[in-house]
Amino acid sequence: MTSDSLVEQARAAALSAYAPYSKFSVGCAIESVDGEIALGANMENACYRLGICAEISALTAARQAFGLDKVARIAVAGGHVGPDGTLAGAAPVTPCGGCRQAIYEAADLSGIDIEVVSANGDGTETIVKPIRALLPDGFGPASLKDAG
Ligand code: THU
Repeated sequence: MTSDSLVEQARAAALSAYAPYSKFSVGCAIESVDGEIALGANMENACYRLGICAEISALTAARQAFGLDKVARIAVAGGHVGPDGTLAGAAPVTPCGGCRQAIYEAADLSGIDIEVVSANGDGTETIVKPIRALLPDGFGPASLKDAG
């Protein structure tokens, strides 16, 4: 358990993951510049490749709740749901490459270098980095300025 409530909300969101195949539950909590929160969790599918990540799920909710250009901070937490019904696991979960790209899109829209807090399932370890450090020299909306 951390003192960061956004991490605790991500850990709680992971309990609503649908991850029967990997048994790896991931939750994501997104905070807006005004303190609003959007949540998401991974959702897998019997057709394995159709599964979606927690971050994409939460970004979709954030788009509906306050807009991608208002995203300020993102927490991700993942691991397994233990026998006591809480999320557990030792290694911090950093966003996959595809999710970094999706977060980068939001950051490019607003000019905010979104802070990403990657937590372990236990909530005892975090890695905090801005999206531009997680995805250096990224390609985003601004990269299309020379399009016809
Ligand atoms: N997963 C996420 O939800 N976010 C990530 O950034 C990494 C991976 C999910 C996808 C899949 O359902 C499970 O974790 C195992 O890869």
